[in-house]
Amino acid sequence: GEEDDFVGMLRDSNFTRLCSTKSMLTVNESFPGPTIRVRKGDTAIVNVYNYGRYDVTIHWHGVKQPRNPWYDGPEYITQCGIKQGHNFTYVVLFTVEEGTLWWHAHSDWTRATVHGPIVVLPALGTTYPFPDPYEEHTIVLGNWYEGDVMTIISDAMYTGGRPNTSVAHTINGQPGDLYPCSNDTTYRLKVKPGKTYMLRIVNAVMNEEIFFGIANHNLTVVGQDGAYLKPVTTDYISTTSGQTFDVLVTANQEPSLYYMIASPLFDTHGTPFDNSTSTAIFEYEGDYTPPSTPVFQFLPGCNDTEAAVKFVKSLRSLASKEYPIYVPKNITQTMLITTTMNHMPCPNKSCEARGDRLASSLNNFTYVTHSIDILQAYTRNLSDVYTTDFPDAPPVMYNFTGDRGNLSEYTTPGTRVKMLNYGEQVEIVFQGTTIVSSESHPMHLHGFSFFVVGMGKWNFDYASDPLSYNLVDPPKVNTIFVPALGWVAIRFVADNPGTWLMHCHLARHLIWGMSTVLIVKNGPSNDTSIRPQDNNNDAATAAAKDDES
Ligand code: C2O
Ligand code: CU
Repeated sequence: GEEDDFVGMLRDSNFTRLCSTKSMLTVNESFPGPTIRVRKGDTAIVNVYNYGRYDVTIHWHGVKQPRNPWYDGPEYITQCGIKQGHNFTYVVLFTVEEGTLWWHAHSDWTRATVHGPIVVLPALGTTYPFPDPYEEHTIVLGNWYEGDVMTIISDAMYTGGRPNTSVAHTINGQPGDLYPCSNDTTYRLKVKPGKTYMLRIVNAVMNEEIFFGIANHNLTVVGQDGAYLKPVTTDYISTTSGQTFDVLVTANQEPSLYYMIASPLFDTHGTPFDNSTSTAIFEYEGDYTPPSTPVFQFLPGCNDTEAAVKFVKSLRSLASKEYPIYVPKNITQTMLITTTMNHMPCPNKSCEARGDRLASSLNNFTYVTHSIDILQAYTRNLSDVYTTDFPDAPPVMYNFTGDRGNLSEYTTPGTRVKMLNYGEQVEIVFQGTTIVSSESHPMHLHGFSFFVVGMGKWNFDYASDPLSYNLVDPPKVNTIFVPALGWVAIRFVADNPGTWLMHCHLARHLIWGMSTVLIVKNGPSNDTSIRPQDNNNDAATAAAKDDES
């Protein structure tokens, strides 16, 4: 592979949407941010300079980064924040994935505006497992906040409500022409009749699942999270925060204007529907009289969880001779992990009136970060940063999706991690619960893609549910939603030494503590240990100096 160099300048600059202008933090003054385009096998060297007001780190979402946790990015897990006036050089190894991924800030809520696509093309001399598309385009689904995102966090943290500043959904940074003042800036994808286009779709939204479709056109899904799928033809896709899809669409309809539509799925109780459908335009080139409004098509409704589950269940790995997969079959470590919404006593004045704030947990533990990151603590043997007692099962077995009896809605804060030996074959069943509310949670694992071997409704049943696992061609992903009132089972091999964050990808649930860390120990030989850190940046050097003094 080759070495590709990128420079990212983080700074605040003005953006105008929905009739008003605000200053916000972006990379290279673009929203969404620039695309990182590499070939499989390449190494990207990304030098990030921070001229903004907040500490920021960057995460390469879905990139395995084999033995290279130093550059994974989540703040207080693998590094401290890059401070204003400092730079940090990331080394990103593209050895495993092929397809679309994305990068985003991984400190507080900065990812709302600091994110962009990653395109991993096939290695030189190889091709796609489908005919080359005529053109490729990235489609980033995002949010627009009226206010400063970082001040919205404290709202979200303590009141638990939806941030009250209005949120619009966006396609490639634009809300689309159903919103005020957005006509001229609506994203338009110009297409030639008869040609096939590849859309590289990134769900970069903060807190929702999104249905996406193009009026009157079928979508053929060929890849997800940087791995190929058996082609599935559908009229909508459902994507949850963090996921990426590769989709082919052929311009085979009457030349006209067709809406590309992104509309949210709210399956939560008590979350108001904000009616924020965003649009872009799929515009045929040629000589015709365009309609006064583009053709519209309704996507599944805002509470149609079934439609989301149906789509997810239709996806299968390619699992061919050329693209083989290795699904772990001799499981050595099983975990049952509950995803739960809880309450917590309020830690500060901002929610005194209420006494409590919302929290969230895995196995009833709410993750708390420290100013020393887990990777430093682990590699330098520092005590008092974390404990290794994250449990393999919930503390109390109960009817997770039914009557919770007199179980407490309170959770226990702490920094509990799970240790794994190198090479363990791991199965995790995530189980949805109904403690404070039942919601679906997009669980994301750093450092690994995993196979989704099963998904079902209600309580996971050890006796019967594994019988219906797909161990032949399950999709290999980095983010999967745990259905509300249901469960999902994943498998992977712990072959990547390092400290890897596992968390719900909804920004609110992440700051409320729905996360833990998997620490994979070194393997028996040198080539299965954490790579040494390249000391090529001031943040790492500063950390090393602190440590010496
Ligand atoms: Cu896309 Cu931990 O993140
Ligand atoms: Cu969640």
